[in-house]
Amino acid sequence: MKTVVFGGAFDPPHLEHSRLTEFACKFLGAERLIIVPTYSPPHKSGGTLSFEHRVELSKIAFSGCADEVIIDQIELDRSMEGHKYNYSSEVLPILKAKYGDIVYLIGGDSAEHFHTWHKPEDVVKVCPIAVAGRAGYDDVDKKICNLTSSFGGNFIRIAFDGEAVSSSDVKARLLLQIKPEGISDEVYDYIKSHHLFERYIPWLEKLKAWQSPELYHHTINVVLRAVNLNSLHNLKQDFDKVFQSALLHDNAKERPSIDGLDVPSDSIGTSVLHQFLGAEKARRDFGVVDEDVISAIKVHTTACKDMSILQKLIYTADSTSYDREYEPIPLLREIGDRDFEEGFRAVLEYTYHKLLKAQKSIYPLTLEAIKQYL
Ligand SMILES: [Fe+2]
Ligand SMILES: [Fe+2]
Repeated sequence: MKTVVFGGAFDPPHLEHSRLTEFACKFLGAERLIIVPTYSPPHKSGGTLSFEHRVELSKIAFSGCADEVIIDQIELDRSMEGHKYNYSSEVLPILKAKYGDIVYLIGGDSAEHFHTWHKPEDVVKVCPIAVAGRAGYDDVDKKICNLTSSFGGNFIRIAFDGEAVSSSDVKARLLLQIKPEGISDEVYDYIKSHHLFERYIPWLEKLKAWQSPELYHHTINVVLRAVNLNSLHNLKQDFDKVFQSALLHDNAKERPSIDGLDVPSDSIGTSVLHQFLGAEKARRDFGVVDEDVISAIKVHTTACKDMSILQKLIYTADSTSYDREYEPIPLLREIGDRDFEEGFRAVLEYTYHKLLKAQKSIYPLTLEAIKQYL
């Protein structure tokens, strides 16, 4: 029986996953669909949901995508047997022995990073690989040509042009208690009835109490912008660190009382105070202990020299967040979408000129950043 194999974190499974597998099964004439939830994904940092919940959600999300749908827990079984990794080069041969005539389905974004996989030359020997086209990855045909000449094998182009759904965007919205458009009602109902994605509710409640509706709206938009930039450019920043820094970046903006906290004296009474105070209040009021998160909050307004990727990410996301519609932010957003470093520098340059024009004093950290990056 012709069988399509599709793996992923499914944290949670979204509509593009189910639409793509349904389309691929029809396109390839496959009656059976094997879904393989990852147990410890080698390419991504740890999932938010437990393996058991991701299996249950996959049952819901993929039902009806083929005549027969099986959620195969091979990755859990192998991990129980002591295997540290579940590389495709090792898992696929076992699935082939079990199910016979298989085609391995991957998304266009996975094809993009295929050469970085563990032993790609072994993966292509197991079975044909179907690659789905996806918005933002229009050069899939070229990619397939390159992969074939590098590794051989049989790559099949699936002309799937379904709407792109960003997994990070879905996850961030769920954590922000906003219903994402990219998941089905059934998946959403399961999530709600099992109280999943609720771990940031206490933080959201504090922010709602301490921020004006406008500032809270801005905060939400910075979170979404930051997680999307992180996945768009494959920056590989830990999802929770990005989420936390963006969520808390302006936590002190409307509560300027210093309360004896340690802030630079030259920032007191200026608009940059809230970044230093925000870092200290993230520790005190939200229990943040991660220094990467603290340091990203601490320079989100001024920037500084030798910035980490996370610091640049929060700095850029803050200035190009989706709630800022005035000129030239849409243009800066576009630059940031195209190239992360260029987007960061464009924001720094824009801020610098804005300060000059307004004849405002420029904070020393900003001057250092300008010296290094512009
Ligand atoms: Fe701010
Ligand atoms: Fe902000």
